Amino acid sequence: MKNKIIAGNWKMNKLQSEAKQLIEELKPLVKDTENTVVICVPYTDLALAVEMTKGTNIHVGAQNCHWKESGAFTAEIAPSMLVEAGVEYVIIGHSERRTYFGETDATVLQRTTAALNAGLKPIVCIGETLEERNSGRMEEVLERQILKGFETITAEQLKNIVIAYEPVWAIGTGVTATDEQAQDAIAFCRSVFAKKYGKESADELYIQYGGSMNDANAKALLSMPDIDGGLIGGASLVAKKFADVVNAYKK
Ligand code: PGA
Repeated sequence: MKNKIIAGNWKMNKLQSEAKQLIEELKPLVKDTENTVVICVPYTDLALAVEMTKGTNIHVGAQNCHWKESGAFTAEIAPSMLVEAGVEYVIIGHSERRTYFGETDATVLQRTTAALNAGLKPIVCIGETLEERNSGRMEEVLERQILKGFETITAEQLKNIVIAYEPVWAIGTGVTATDEQAQDAIAFCRSVFAKKYGKESADELYIQYGGSMNDANAKALLSMPDIDGGLIGGASLVAKKFADVVNAYKK
């Protein structure tokens, strides 16, 4: 099994003073892990997070980027702006972006491509809604999100991408997918990637689970053979809770 990639998705939380306190608390708590630790913070906290994590094992990510390098796109952020700020990762296609901000598989592909071209590591989110799962369409939805969202992505590019499988019904709801549900869905996603890129590329690919993952359930989820990490929302807002997820799994 691989070491894990544990990423915190702060979403629209933490003023700079709060971010400062959280990062300060987090640093000593995660310093001994062999897992990769990422915090994806609001744009306004990026500079602070990059500065505060210099020389530590904590990597910094943003939560979105645009596909153009510059231009008349009010309120958008170009990938090169993130790189210049010292950012390494960027979340793309989170279900909240898909639900509230019109994100589609096509825009996910554009953003992912631009992020890769700038040298960022995209964390690309996929996942089905409850209605899609209950109507037996989970596999169809995941397959479409992968085939369309990665249509022009090469095997070489895939090496710099992390996938986050996040069933929409488990995000922020307190309902976690069971270990088996998460394992089965992620194994299915890996099989779709294997069909497109070959088994070796699919096996190397990091696929995280996300959706109400916390200190209580992380160990069991991260022990499943196909789950290569977690994308953590609510529990990443408290240093001790996030650190417990980071430290829940040792190879
Ligand atoms: P949650 O969010 O852990 O609060 O469910 C996960 C996510 O949306 O990335």
